[in-house]
Amino acid sequence: MSDSDAASATADGSRATVSGDPAVADGSGVKRPYVLLSVAVSIDGYIDDASPERLLLSNPEDFDRVDAVRADSDAILVGARTLRRDDPRLLVNSEERRARRVAAGRPEYPLKITVSAGGDLEPGLRFFHTGGEKLVYTTDAGVARLGERLAELAEVVSLGETVDFGALLEDLGRRGIARLMVEGGGHIHTAFLAHGLADELLLAVAPVLVGDPDAPRFLNPADFPGGSGRRMVLADVTRVGDVALLRYLPTRTEAPTEGRPHDMEAPQ
Ligand SMILES: NC(=O)c1ccc[n+]([C@@H]2O[C@H](COP(=O)([O-])OP(=O)(O)OC[C@H]3O[C@@H](n4cnc5c(N)ncnc54)[C@H](OP(=O)(O)O)[C@@H]3O)[C@@H](O)[C@H]2O)c1
Repeated sequence: MSDSDAASATADGSRATVSGDPAVADGSGVKRPYVLLSVAVSIDGYIDDASPERLLLSNPEDFDRVDAVRADSDAILVGARTLRRDDPRLLVNSEERRARRVAAGRPEYPLKITVSAGGDLEPGLRFFHTGGEKLVYTTDAGVARLGERLAELAEVVSLGETVDFGALLEDLGRRGIARLMVEGGGHIHTAFLAHGLADELLLAVAPVLVGDPDAPRFLNPADFPGGSGRRMVLADVTRVGDVALLRYLPTRTEAPTEGRPHDMEAPQ
């Protein structure tokens, strides 16, 4: 199955396949981007530990794979808490990949996006001083709090009283973003999955145990579409050194057929 096998939302919330077109059409005719969630997770489900330093879960080979996924994306999104905590730059690090983007008529770097309800974003964050264009989605209150602090550094867009992720994707679609990579953290991944807005999930499982209840988890409790009875499609499993990379398609489910887990009796 190729990355361009996207799934689109229909009016009743179910998903339909759109082969070869990563963008997704909604009822208004606006093309939403194809949304890929990317995360590195410990075996016990954490995405960091509780220490002040960022826990590196991937290995060098896997970080390079992530760089390639970034290079294939039109935009990269992270939550404001990840910016405040890790101060990431979110760049395509490979010169060769950046050169390929430019040769193909694309910007050297993907658009960088963050989401903040409260607008607590320091202009000194590395996010605002590296790479290409930056975009901040926030609320009316967030805009008021930010004032002119990010002037010249980023475009700040209010989505009203709250940040609605469907509205955010429609806005990105209007800007011509066809492929969005979401890099976390847990609150952001939870929101995309809970709203049925993630087309693909790249889950890199690192051979690490964190075991700290204060550390952030990949996902927080939420009312996920279909609940625990719904099985996603597992599209690929790849070994990346000591990391296992699982590729899921969250909006698709396997049709129940004979011999599939739906029909099987659990061992007693
Ligand atoms: N292992 C990995 O692959 C990976 C990747 C990324 C991050 N991380 C880790 O993840 C941790 C941070 O994750 P997190 O879950 O605490 O935070 P997060 O998801 O990065 O960011 C949460 C913030 O996003 C904004 N936000 C979230 N939902 C919103 C909504 N519906 N409307 C408006 N704003 C919304 C809020 O910002 P405001 O508070 O500004 O309103 C919220 O505090 C860090 O420890 C980081 O190291 C790990």
